Parts: sequence; structure tokens; C-alpha cells
Amino acid sequence: MNGRLSNWASNIAPSPTLVVDGKSKKLKAEGKDVCGFGAGEPDFDTPSFIKEACAKAIRDGKTKYIPASGLPALRQALADFYVERGVPNVKAPNIIVSPGGKFSCYLAIKAVVSPGDEVIIPSPYWVSYPEMVKLCGGVPVFVAADDSADFKVSASQIKAAMTEKTKLIILNSPSNPTGAVYTGDELSEIVKLAVEKRIFVMADEIYSFLTYDGKKAVCAASVCEQARDWVIVTSGFSKTYAMTGWRLGTMCAPDDIAAAAASIQSQTTSNATSFAQFGALAVFENRDLASVAVSEMLASFDRRRLMLLNGLNSIKGISCRRAEGAFYLFPNISSFGLSSTDFCSKILDEELVAIVPGIAFGADGNVRFSYAVSDSVIEKGLERMARFCAKL
Ligand SMILES: Cc1ncc(COP(=O)(O)O)c(C=O)c1O
Repeated sequence: MNGRLSNWASNIAPSPTLVVDGKSKKLKAEGKDVCGFGAGEPDFDTPSFIKEACAKAIRDGKTKYIPASGLPALRQALADFYVERGVPNVKAPNIIVSPGGKFSCYLAIKAVVSPGDEVIIPSPYWVSYPEMVKLCGGVPVFVAADDSADFKVSASQIKAAMTEKTKLIILNSPSNPTGAVYTGDELSEIVKLAVEKRIFVMADEIYSFLTYDGKKAVCAASVCEQARDWVIVTSGFSKTYAMTGWRLGTMCAPDDIAAAAASIQSQTTSNATSFAQFGALAVFENRDLASVAVSEMLASFDRRRLMLLNGLNSIKGISCRRAEGAFYLFPNISSFGLSSTDFCSKILDEELVAIVPGIAFGADGNVRFSYAVSDSVIEKGLERMARFCAKL
């Protein structure tokens, strides 16, 4: 008899970031004073003009099916947005609105990867990429970038990993977990190589608005004329607008890929929640309000980034690079001689500090802190971290 589970289901691991978050939430529910740096989730509320637009949509009865690929006005607004970002000739049919940035990534991979295809994933990587590739029967091929390379891979490293089975390269800038931001030139070299070899790029740009130190994130589909035909940009509203629970992702894809993704979505989830999309549309209809809301959140993230960065670097045995994007720091803890899993479970048990082991992202010498938490949690967490490290 075959096993009860499919091969896909038997091989998939649960998301380790959600596991840590679950454990820390459980401890909190038991009344423990946990400093939770685990979740990749802004601690701000969704801006009120977005919530109001969604509430109005519900009141107005916008609670029925809409086209599976998204609200036409939202798709058009997103197409205009990508044209403004420098991607040539994007039209509404190139855009899919999905139930979350995570699902946009899955749609992109599902649309291009067949069983046996290889997918190049720079490491450290976001936890879900390898599992999604495996769910599509693909083979993840990791290319390592360490602290000394600012956690970025070069075009020549990617070239060395290419084989005739390579179908897709996954890029994530700004990066979760490292916060690294590729420059336009760095992206351009990689994308041009992909175009030349007729390999797709999935550029996960969900953190593209969250950059610091004057750095700007360039859209990978804008770096050269042909990029539009080979780059699939995935993104979403969760991180920029503190809308994690709304489940709204986006995809900007070449014509054939967008059409395939639209069919996959229409046969699996149908439309992402209709009234949530009216909330998202408010972002484009109230640009001034949106830009004020994002700048305010960004200023807080930046202050917390520097607080955590300086605090971590002042602890003996820890070194942390200055990340320029997203809301994560990825310090190196290898000097303590513990695996990242042991380090994280010990500090959670002994000091009630929740952080994510780097092994989940393919880097066992590091741990991930999300600084989308209050200043007081950062202060307290740093004190506990210093006490913990001094004992090791
Ligand atoms: C790199 C990256 N991509 C995609 C997502 C998915 O975001 P969501 O599904 O909440 O829109 C996340 C969330 O943690 C992420 O870190």
C-alpha cells in the first residue's frame, strides 16, 4: 500500500519561523515576559485610511466573487506603479493579485518549474523558497554568500551554478533574513546573465520600500530592455503597509507567465479577498496618505535597526553587519561554538528571548532578529542577550 501522504506532503517541512513564533506566543499566553524577535511582522496597525476603504467596501456589499486575478482597478494601478518603477510596457494583464506575497512566489515557481528543473537560490534564503521549489518537483541549488560578501551573490557565482537544467533564479532584495540590498549594477549583471541564458528570475521585492541609509531598492525587471520577458516580480502589501493578516500579494510577470499564473490561481484559490483589495486600492488613490504612513513606519524601523545593531555589536562574541533593508538583522554567533538551533532554544528557555536559528535560512553561524518590535522590547532583549552571551 502507498503511504497515506503524497511524496510532496511527506517531504515538506513546516515553516521554522512560524514554529518559533508559535512557541514564543505560547509562552506569552502562559504569562511569561517573552521578548519576541521571531516574527517578520510590523508591530504597527494598518493605516486607518486603508482599513476605512475596506470597511466601506464591506458596507457597500463588495463581498462577492471578483475576477480571479484581481480587482481590475487594482491591477491597473499596480501596472502603472511598475511602469513608474521603470519596467517597460506593463499592462493590467501582467499583474496578478494573489492571497499573499507567499502565494505569489508559489504561483511564480509553479508557472515555470517542472519536475527535475533546477532552481538557483542564493543562501541565506527566505525559508519558504526551497520548500516551494520541492513542492513543484524542482531541485534547489544553493549559492552561498556569507557576511564578508555582504550576504550577496555575484553573477559569476550564479554562472558557475548554472547547468542545462537551470530554469529559474530566485532573488530577494532587500533580503529576509540578511537585510542585504543589491545595487542596480549588481542586479543588472545577474539579470543580463539570466536573459542571455534564457533562464527566468523570480525577484521577490516584498521589502522594496523598506530601505535605509539613503539606499534605494531597484526593481529587477527594470534593469534592461529584455528583463521584462524574463523577470517575474513578486511582492505584496503585508510588510510595507502593516497588512500581514489581509493576505494580499502581487505579481508582475511577462505575458505568458502571467496568463499561466492566472489560470493556476483561478483553479486553486480564485480571487484574493474582494474587500481587502478595495483597502489596497486606497494606497494608490491616496498616495500622500500612503507615503506619510510608510515614512513614519520607516523612521521607527530605522531607529530600532540602529539601536539593535549597536547593541548587538557591543556584545562580546557577536558581530553583525549593517543591514540596509527589510527589518531584520542577522548577526554571526559562531564564536560561541553552539549550533544556531541550540543557541536559540537555550536563550528562549533561559532568558525568554525569541529569535530564529540561522539554519532555517541555510546559515548555521547566524541567528535572525526581527526589529519590527517596540524600542522597549529591543532594550530588554539586548540586556538579556548580553547576560546570556556572557555565560556561554
Ligand atoms: C522574503 C519574503 N517574501 C514573501 C513573504 C510573504 O509575505 P506575505 O505572504 O505575508 O505577503 C515574506 C514574509 O515573511 C518574506 O519575508
